[in-house]
Amino acid sequence: MNDTKNQMLIIFGASGDLTARKLVPALFNLFRDSHVPENFVVLGVSRSNLTDIEFREKVVLESEYLKEKVTVKDYGLIDTFSKKIYYEDLGENYDTNYEKLAKKISDLNSAYNTEENYIFYLSTPPNLFEAISKNLANQNLNDETQGFKRLIVEKPFGYNLESAQKLNKGIQNYFKESQIYRIDHYLGKETVQNLLVTRFANSIFEPLWNRNYIDYIEITNAEKVGVGVRGGYYDNSGALRDMFQNHLLQIVSLIVMEPPIAANSREIRNEKVKALRSLRIMRDEETIKQNTIRAQYISSNVGGKTINGYREEEGVNPESTTETYAAIKFFVDNWRWKDVPFYVRTAKRMPTKVTEVVIHFKAPHHQIFQDSDALNKDNKLIIRIQPDEGILVKFGVKVPGQGFKVERANLDFYYSDLEETNVMEAYERLLLDAMQGDATLYARADEVEAAWKFVDPILNYWKNGKDVRMYGYSAGAWGPENADDLIDGTGIWRNPGANLVDDPSYCVIC
Ligand code: BG6
Repeated sequence: MNDTKNQMLIIFGASGDLTARKLVPALFNLFRDSHVPENFVVLGVSRSNLTDIEFREKVVLESEYLKEKVTVKDYGLIDTFSKKIYYEDLGENYDTNYEKLAKKISDLNSAYNTEENYIFYLSTPPNLFEAISKNLANQNLNDETQGFKRLIVEKPFGYNLESAQKLNKGIQNYFKESQIYRIDHYLGKETVQNLLVTRFANSIFEPLWNRNYIDYIEITNAEKVGVGVRGGYYDNSGALRDMFQNHLLQIVSLIVMEPPIAANSREIRNEKVKALRSLRIMRDEETIKQNTIRAQYISSNVGGKTINGYREEEGVNPESTTETYAAIKFFVDNWRWKDVPFYVRTAKRMPTKVTEVVIHFKAPHHQIFQDSDALNKDNKLIIRIQPDEGILVKFGVKVPGQGFKVERANLDFYYSDLEETNVMEAYERLLLDAMQGDATLYARADEVEAAWKFVDPILNYWKNGKDVRMYGYSAGAWGPENADDLIDGTGIWRNPGANLVDDPSYCVIC
């Protein structure tokens, strides 16, 4: 196991939702499982007027997010944990003199002997990243002469290619790329990391992982919830920026990439960038029109309850043209993937929450069993990211009896069957990696920019193009009807159910 040095975690935007909902519960788990170093302290920084005690109450002692996780035997620990947490009020805004903050950091460093090892976690809107970096640098808090200084930045990383480039430059004026950790919580999911292992630790899959054997690839990311209380943020973002540019293109890069020469951060990220750069960018309006679908959920009645349409949600413009559903078909321009279509969709207010990757293999070159329903009998490898995490292989077996009728059988594996059941949650894993200086599961500057390069023309067309269509789909349905038209050949998406082995089109709508 890597060494975790004594250190301090300084969270900017600490009174925001993410700190209480994700970061503190992840830190508590790390603390409970003895992953944090002996000398460890957390300093929350934001513009709310709170004392240390009030902050501890908010994010630990009275936090609804922690209550759910804590078992009776953890209660003593909670108290000890909360005493490691401090708070500093930055006053009016984040672009101010950080002298007082630097003094607080220095005092805590002396009291806890954290050896000047600091991680700054920016959980603020991205327009503050550069100002915070500059103000930290003004206090020499980027200087690694004594102790490491790392900067974790939250998504969204930019609004388009131009703003992402500007953001990268802005931060890199004050911190070296090796000090910057761009978080994408999907990379912290065990099942996403397992994509690498499935591919590169099994000689039965990798030889088939190319255009000779793969017909097409389908990725579905569906959420049952709507935009909830985040309407204000989401309406300026949309499914393509919120999920596709980051989480889904990360998954795509792991499927597309060539084998890295070693499992370290440099080699893996080099291959991921190469993969993202090989996505064929759609440059003309007609191509984008033919290969993308955007839609919004509209009000519907589910289980006797009326569900709001997107335009009726709080914080959303009643005439909004922001998509809550995005489906994109694209190709990858390299030797391995030539002519293999990728279909990727993401949406809110779908029948169930599920993320899965389906590798559809080509039919055997010479079909001798004419009877079989060839459409349904292709081999599939289904990699389930969430929930009911696992892997399913669909393959043909003979139906007992006369002749050679072929039926589909399942070969399935579930994570829940593993003996090691303590699977770290995404934020837990990613925080620990940053604490140990391992950036493998964080996005590099060129990776983020390559993803925006692919997404930008689609966003531009959706915003400014001629005859751009916005479809509607009933909340609780699998998107607009015509989304199936995107898929060549079979013309249907595999609509997965709540469980790995549920048959397609299975629906949970209550
Ligand atoms: C976030 C998006 O990055 O990911 C949210 O901003 C989305 O809109 C969330 O709901 C989904 O994450 P998960 O881990 O629940 O699939």
